[in-house]
Amino acid sequence: MNAETNVSRYSKDFDLPVRGDVITADRYISREWMEQETRKLWPKVWHLGGMLAELEEPGDIIRHNFGKESIIMVRQDDGSIRAFYNTCPHRGNRLILGDVASVDQITCGYHSWTFDIDGTLAKVQDPDDFAGGNPCGKVHLAEVRCETWGPFVFWCMDDDVAPLREWMAPLPDRLAAYGLENWVRVLHVSADCNFNWKILRDNFNESYHLPTIHPELAMFINDGLPTTLFEMYPSGHNSMWMIGHQATTRTDYESGDVPAGLAEAAVAWGIDPAAYKGRTGEIRQAVIDAKRRLGAERGYANYADMSDQQLVDYFHCTLFPNLTITMSPEQCQILRTEPHPTDPEKCIFQHWCLYPPVPGMTEVYTPVGMAPLQHDAISSHSVYGDGVSLGFVADQDLSIGTSQQQGLNSRGFKGCILPGQEKRVQRFHELLNDMIGGPA
Ligand code: FES
Ligand SMILES: [Fe+2]
Repeated sequence: MNAETNVSRYSKDFDLPVRGDVITADRYISREWMEQETRKLWPKVWHLGGMLAELEEPGDIIRHNFGKESIIMVRQDDGSIRAFYNTCPHRGNRLILGDVASVDQITCGYHSWTFDIDGTLAKVQDPDDFAGGNPCGKVHLAEVRCETWGPFVFWCMDDDVAPLREWMAPLPDRLAAYGLENWVRVLHVSADCNFNWKILRDNFNESYHLPTIHPELAMFINDGLPTTLFEMYPSGHNSMWMIGHQATTRTDYESGDVPAGLAEAAVAWGIDPAAYKGRTGEIRQAVIDAKRRLGAERGYANYADMSDQQLVDYFHCTLFPNLTITMSPEQCQILRTEPHPTDPEKCIFQHWCLYPPVPGMTEVYTPVGMAPLQHDAISSHSVYGDGVSLGFVADQDLSIGTSQQQGLNSRGFKGCILPGQEKRVQRFHELLNDMIGGPA
């Protein structure tokens, strides 16, 4: 095994203490918690609003509905992007009603107040009928901060939050070598779910569930603790490096035939799995060598900048509080839950998958099957449980959500009992406690 992977569970450099606050069920159930999150949490973080690819021309708009809020991001004449609350200053009507739009001006559907794309009021009916004079040129849409990183547009409601890259630290540096800037979002799916948004955040903050919920991943992802690296950063975000192209060390795969999932990955890089019978652990290095040798000619320009670890392992980044970015060199998964507008026991789950634009490649293998390598080739919104897949592994994660929510409502549940490897779950809740201070 490569020396860089021979690490303990928690990184020496990026480990942080936790207090041991009891994680009780109220935070998943009560309206008071939900209201405190609306007031004290959500304004204080950056939100991923959409893809730069959707904002090609001046006047192109992406709308992001979040809880009861709605934000529009608008490409400007000078090429910059500005974001505004999606509410009319006249009497509050929502301005943009579709997910995307392309406009010369923004016109409200109630009394036709019309705004330039920089948010300035340009035209009203009966302009002389205002006590203070014609409001055009004086009234503006309320603006929120807007910044970009990689292929993404983010927005933030609070002026005191650090600039985006600083807020994301150290992840922009850690992710730079993947070269995400020109990746294409092929999968764009979401669903209404019957559980609190934090249920799935907890799930993404631990790998303890893998052997039970995702047993087939064990054939090509090593979820054994001694080789999995957890990092917790002062920014509140965390990450997990899980060894890929290697079967789990929880089971003895080493001495037998190469398991199916791993064999498939080996064949894809011209490696004969039969030659590795009894030494399956060596396939990972063979794939690194093959990717170094063949990557450029197969069109993977981004391999050159990557470490060996990035070439074969899975880098799972969890940004506080609700955004997960899971990286391999060939796929970026965005997994996120957002609060329901009014019900603390519901949420909206979103799953995006991005792929590098490899020359000559017309299709990619997504978590719901093959799809054209085109923006939003697969795009849907559904209700969880109606039979629409949200991705093979995501479906498995979502499958526990409703029953966990139900169990948390029991008088018999007294608070979580966490093993050491779930320290990221503990820290997530302590950061929440610090921001929210408990229900009012
Ligand atoms: S509420 Fe928008 S023009 Fe009246
Ligand atoms: Fe999972």
